[in-house]
Amino acid sequence: MAEADWSVSSDAIVERPRRIRNHPLLSAVYDHHDALIGEHLPDGEFLEVAFGQYMHPEADVGLEAWPSNVRETDEPAIVGDARSLPVPDDSFDGIIGRRFLHHVPERDRHEIVRECERVLRPGGRLILLEGTPGLYRRVTKGMAFRLGVMDEDNDLYGHLSREELRDLLGQEFEIVADEPLGSPLMMACISESELSKYLFPVYERTQVVTWWTLIVGEVT
Ligand SMILES: C[S@@+](CC[C@H](N)C(=O)[O-])C[C@H]1O[C@@H](n2cnc3c(N)ncnc32)[C@H](O)[C@@H]1O
Repeated sequence: MAEADWSVSSDAIVERPRRIRNHPLLSAVYDHHDALIGEHLPDGEFLEVAFGQYMHPEADVGLEAWPSNVRETDEPAIVGDARSLPVPDDSFDGIIGRRFLHHVPERDRHEIVRECERVLRPGGRLILLEGTPGLYRRVTKGMAFRLGVMDEDNDLYGHLSREELRDLLGQEFEIVADEPLGSPLMMACISESELSKYLFPVYERTQVVTWWTLIVGEVT
């Protein structure tokens, strides 16, 4: 990503929308993630924090630190910081956070989880999908960068391992699901060819590397 597309504001990395839809296989993978998240949502009203380029289809309202992300969406959205949610206690039944915790310094991540617990109603759920560190991710991204098909990674703060995510959410929530996601075909996601989307059925059946973790915490 070019430097002008992101900045560090109050220690959070905020950024302009990424062009995920230019990558048909990645786009299909993200749609699949959204469907999986939907399976874990309870009934009720949902907030998405750090929605970036587009909101989860079931989110009723979104929150973003980067103002242009809010201006450019047609969905109800507010500018704000997930570390201090401008929302009263007990407001939502579900909070979704996709691929964003690595944009927040480690020392602030617990505050986000605590804030989510505060604004969730009893029985409410926090559903996070986060990148998981690992050799396959490092090698793939390193190769893509060297080949010039991916801009330099701005992952200053680092992803969380599955165990770190469990520890983080487990401080405030009961963990009700914890699912590793990823396929060796992740490499093909950098393709912009329309044909790449036809790889998705194979991608889905070969979930043998952990590129992401989907974790669900419930208010007890
Ligand atoms: C890698 S993008 C992910 C966007 C989207 N969730 C997705 O999965 O496509 C991370 C997003 O988190 C936002 N962000 C970073 N820190 C934040 C914070 N403290 N509060 C709200 N949004 C934040 C950034 O502006 C950026 O849009």
